[in-house]
Amino acid sequence: MLRYLAPITILMCWSNVSASGPAITLSNKCPGGFELVESNRCELRTLYQFYTSNQGRGVGGTQTALPEHRDGFSPQQIDLGRYLFFDPLLSVDQSTACSSCHQPELGFTDGRAQSRGIANSETDRSAPSLWNSAFQQRFFWDARSDSLEQQAQGPLYSPIEMGNTPPQLQQTIENSATYIALFEQAFPDAEGFDLAQLYTALAAFQSSLVSLNSRYDQYAHGNHQALADNEIAGLNVFRSFVARCAECHTPPLFTNNQIAVIGTPEPPGKQFDVGALTTFNNEKMRGGFKVPTLRNIELTAPYMHSGVFKNLRDAAEFYTKGRGHAVPEGMELHIHWHIWEPELKSAELDLLVAFLATLTDQSFLPEVPTVLPSGLTPLTTNGKLLAEQ
Ligand code: HEC
Ligand code: HEC
Repeated sequence: MLRYLAPITILMCWSNVSASGPAITLSNKCPGGFELVESNRCELRTLYQFYTSNQGRGVGGTQTALPEHRDGFSPQQIDLGRYLFFDPLLSVDQSTACSSCHQPELGFTDGRAQSRGIANSETDRSAPSLWNSAFQQRFFWDARSDSLEQQAQGPLYSPIEMGNTPPQLQQTIENSATYIALFEQAFPDAEGFDLAQLYTALAAFQSSLVSLNSRYDQYAHGNHQALADNEIAGLNVFRSFVARCAECHTPPLFTNNQIAVIGTPEPPGKQFDVGALTTFNNEKMRGGFKVPTLRNIELTAPYMHSGVFKNLRDAAEFYTKGRGHAVPEGMELHIHWHIWEPELKSAELDLLVAFLATLTDQSFLPEVPTVLPSGLTPLTTNGKLLAEQ
């Protein structure tokens, strides 16, 4: 707690802080990539919206259309969500924000194999990237949540993540005149504050994190100079019938939004994670996980639900070590039929890694607020692990 006193005092000198907190006005402009349309709604605009089908181009075709997505939030809701996302006020002891584990500079992950929440407690899994979450239908590695609004309640009320409770969070927001004024700006038709507005604002902000303008995308839109020869060769390995990466990591999102059992290992000493078995109560899903997007993958090490692979080379090599090679002895898994033994050569693995690095695009990286409605310090600093500060 003590470490927050100093920054708060500094903020008070700098800015116009009244007894109720700093004066903040929500943006009336949509974030990059969105256009303001009638009824004060932000609509996504991307070149992919001109591609309507995948016909004749095969799996992994560069001009595949996007799946359905969330948009239509107001600029004020998105901006309020941005403040909430970085605000440790949302946790029970004001120590942890969404951004503690989803740091913008790290592709909205935290650089850890297992994330850490309040009191430095370790979670079971690695924090996934939040880029392009607007296009996902299911959330968490085991797909146990089906909306961003529902998902947010996981970390908020988990005793090891943010440790809050609904009544306590409601009270905390009601005690903040600044937040109440902002919720009124963002939800002008509502009568008073309720937690559903907070979940909506977080969903609005996360839906604005769109990354579809990488060098790969420029190539897909017809600029053949956007990729170097080895990167194009890597794309061809990625799409090939031998490697089959694109069957699951399907462009343009580099996920088919499905669950697959691929048999990744756990780090030494960690128990086998049954994944989607629990969600669907289906034995065939034992060890099944959501196919993650590979957008901004260069920024989000370590890899897999368990963070077991430290770099992209190791993650790619996993696929060529033999079907089921990492499955614990005696365990029966229904490994997906696209996981086989491609016997990729070392040079092909290098090409894959070179290609994956062309999927980096942070052109719509949101600004981290310098002042928060709570007066607390926004959490996330240059990719440093917060626990080590
Ligand atoms: C203590 C670290 C931590 C905090 C704090 C945290 N998250 Fe996460 N987040 C994770 C981890 C770990 C997962 C994956 C958990 C799992 O799959 O079981 C995750 C998953 C997610 C997902 C699902 C992404 C996907 O592709 O399935 C979303 C969305 C998300 N978090 C948003 C948030 C929001 C919004 C907040 C703040 C209200 C938040 N997180 C706070 C660690 C954290
Ligand atoms: C059968 C579907 C399938 C195929 C084929 C496949 N993947 Fe995956 N991939 C997955 C799933 C599922 C995960 C998550 C597994 C886990 O967390 O344990 C994953 C995870 C990854 C990750 C880590 C992502 C992260 O955010 O941590 C990388 C990198 C990756 N795959 C690359 C590849 C490459 C390269 C190929 C081709 C050689 C490939 N994948 C083929 C389903 C597939």
